[in-house]
Amino acid sequence: MIETAKNLLSAIGLGTLLIVSAACTGSSDTSPSPASTPTPAQAADLAPTAAPVQATVPAAPAAQWAADGVITPGEYADSRTYGKYEIHWTNDAEHIYVAMRAETEGWVAVAFGADKRMNGADMIFGYVAEGAAAVSDEFSTGEFGPHQPDGELGGTADILIHGGVETDGFTTVEFKRALDTGDSRDAVLAPGANPILWAYGPGDSPTRKHSGKGYGDIELR
Ligand code: HEM
Repeated sequence: MIETAKNLLSAIGLGTLLIVSAACTGSSDTSPSPASTPTPAQAADLAPTAAPVQATVPAAPAAQWAADGVITPGEYADSRTYGKYEIHWTNDAEHIYVAMRAETEGWVAVAFGADKRMNGADMIFGYVAEGAAAVSDEFSTGEFGPHQPDGELGGTADILIHGGVETDGFTTVEFKRALDTGDSRDAVLAPGANPILWAYGPGDSPTRKHSGKGYGDIELR
């Protein structure tokens, strides 16, 4: 119930932002790049198969953004597909809105602030267990882990809203986070290219090693 209320408030707030942005720029073109159909992963560093949209105006999150585990047309400004993993995102001046989707019934994750290896990575795990979506804001202290929830490392859990769905062998988890959370265990995201690691695992526990992983970047406006 609280989550639903949060989503509603978020949607109202985002709608306002969209209107303000359109008024300031004279454009409200925030069309997303369509996600490509996932193909089998061949290597850890798969090249993305969907090119980012080249935007000429600052992005405003879609008014209909909702952490409901369903990626709808227009909900995100950009997306990339890495094998069996997709990431969709939009940002405004304060927040990033992300959808992670992979062909797994286990966890999906993105990590910010690390180039290729896991050391220092600000990881966000998401999974759906018995119909309920969960996220864990974690941090990796070594090149190949270990990683722990930020709260166990003196930081804080900073995912503001989340939700997700597991269906037909795919898991989709959506979340909202501040670009700068103020937590030293979180990367500060900024306009331009931000490196990411992506991964998905075979089970719901974030302690189970990934069955697919790699790296790339996301372009923020
Ligand atoms: C239970 C959680 C995790 C475990 C136990 C784990 C463990 C490992 C290990 C042992 C490797 C070395 C290569 C291999 O054996 O495949 C590795 C590589 C890697 N992991 Fe993880 N990992 C975990 C979670 C994650 C997450 C959440 C991400 C990103 C969001 C990630 C991204 C990567 C990447 C990109 C590599 C390749 C590094 C390179 O090419 O040098 N891992 N991981």
